[in-house]
Amino acid sequence: MNKLGELLGWLTAIFYGASAISFFLKAIYHRYASTIKNSLHINRPYTGLMKFAIRYHRLFGGIALVTLAAHFYIQLTTRGLNISGAFAAGLLVLQAILGAVGTYLVKVRKGLWFYLHRVTALLLFIAIIFHVLKI
Ligand code: HEM
Ligand code: HEM
Repeated sequence: MNKLGELLGWLTAIFYGASAISFFLKAIYHRYASTIKNSLHINRPYTGLMKFAIRYHRLFGGIALVTLAAHFYIQLTTRGLNISGAFAAGLLVLQAILGAVGTYLVKVRKGLWFYLHRVTALLLFIAIIFHVLKI
């Protein structure tokens, strides 16, 4: 049970990363737009990867929530509450709520939700590092 709990923790971290990577792929694309577009070898695979990451951004975030729920359940029932884990979990839930607000209510990529969604992505990174390294 403990190994399964650990695996679910890693899956949560991986799907968080898969969701966050679209930000970096977009940032690199905008920074090096002309270099990427001018190289046939890079352009197609790079834009393909970027579009894939953007298309499945919400799905990856949603999967992270599901694996988190399972990780949470197993760790809570076998080891009890973990403070750094609970903190990271709270941020992930908040992140999904912000994402849903942006997608279904605001519907534009700007404003408070977008700012908070980006800040929470960074806070989540820090929280997950603290949790995994048991600092
Ligand atoms: C975003 C949320 C979370 C992520 C990404 C996450 C990720 C992880 C990962 C990757 C591990 C394995 C660490 C290792 O192999 O040493 C782990 C372990 C663990 N997690 Fe989480 N976790 C999260 C939330 C939670 C929550 C809410 C709890 C509360 C019950 C929790 C409790 C634990 C416990 C007890 C361990 C074992 C720690 C140890 O071996 O001392 N985690 N977590
Ligand atoms: C682990 C969870 C998540 C992380 C780390 C994350 C992170 C991010 C980041 C950093 C951005 C900014 C991208 C940019 O500046 O270009 C973004 C954009 C966005 N996110 Fe998330 N997000 C997560 C989950 C979600 C979920 C669950 C939803 C929807 C239900 C969502 C909806 C959106 C939308 C609509 C955008 C703006 C459009 C876009 O840039 O593709 N996100 N997300």
